Amino acid sequence: MPRRIVVGISGASGAAYAQRFIQLIVAAGVETHLVVSPLGQRLLHDELAMEGVDLAALAGTEDHGITLHHYRDVGAAIASGSFMHDGMVIVPCSNNSLAAVATGLSNNLLHRAANVTLKERRKLVLCHREMPLSLVEIRNMQQVTEAGGIIAPANPGFYMLPHTVEELVDFVVGRLCDLISVKHDLQTRWAESKANRKSS
Ligand SMILES: Cc1cc2nc3c(=O)[nH]c(=O)nc-3n(C[C@H](O)[C@H](O)[C@H](O)COP(=O)(O)O)c2cc1C
Repeated sequence: MPRRIVVGISGASGAAYAQRFIQLIVAAGVETHLVVSPLGQRLLHDELAMEGVDLAALAGTEDHGITLHHYRDVGAAIASGSFMHDGMVIVPCSNNSLAAVATGLSNNLLHRAANVTLKERRKLVLCHREMPLSLVEIRNMQQVTEAGGIIAPANPGFYMLPHTVEELVDFVVGRLCDLISVKHDLQTRWAESKANRKSS
């Protein structure tokens, strides 16, 4: 189990993915370091009716222990390779942040922390959300993948026969947890799926 994870929230649609992911890692006892871009903050407001970055609302508990780092503070701990952690997840990840990571831009803390995660050869997962994709995004994804990052699109499967939006969110978030080695008991596995049981 990872002990310490950095989470970035950028301005792509899908604030619910960020909230659920943070809930799960906090519940798993992971020390969570969070950075939110200004557009990420807008999406928290627009999609979750959140005022500012409400850590208790994101974690689902007052007892969350999350450290919130300011987006402009490129001198924060997570900007340094000497700050040991077990990986970073940007969820949701915008085209803009994908491009910044792909090209090594790091003039804000979200992009700097991602850049450092790659250079330190730690796990970096980008939960990208946009469609359709142009060749620009496809090339940026290739670049990040070649640098060791993982592109994990916010792209739920339907083989678990979901009935609710929450189940679709959990599908994506469960895969993010798998990628960053956080144990969970969400119903995301094909072997356990209702559809699979029916066909066998
Ligand atoms: C309501 C809203 C929804 C958006 N959804 C997306 C999206 O799903 N994917 C995306 O790449 N950009 C989306 N954008 C545009 C990004 O927020 C914008 O490109 C911004 O510069 C991203 O900056 P950041 O990466 O620093 O958060 C959205 C913007 C708004 C206002």
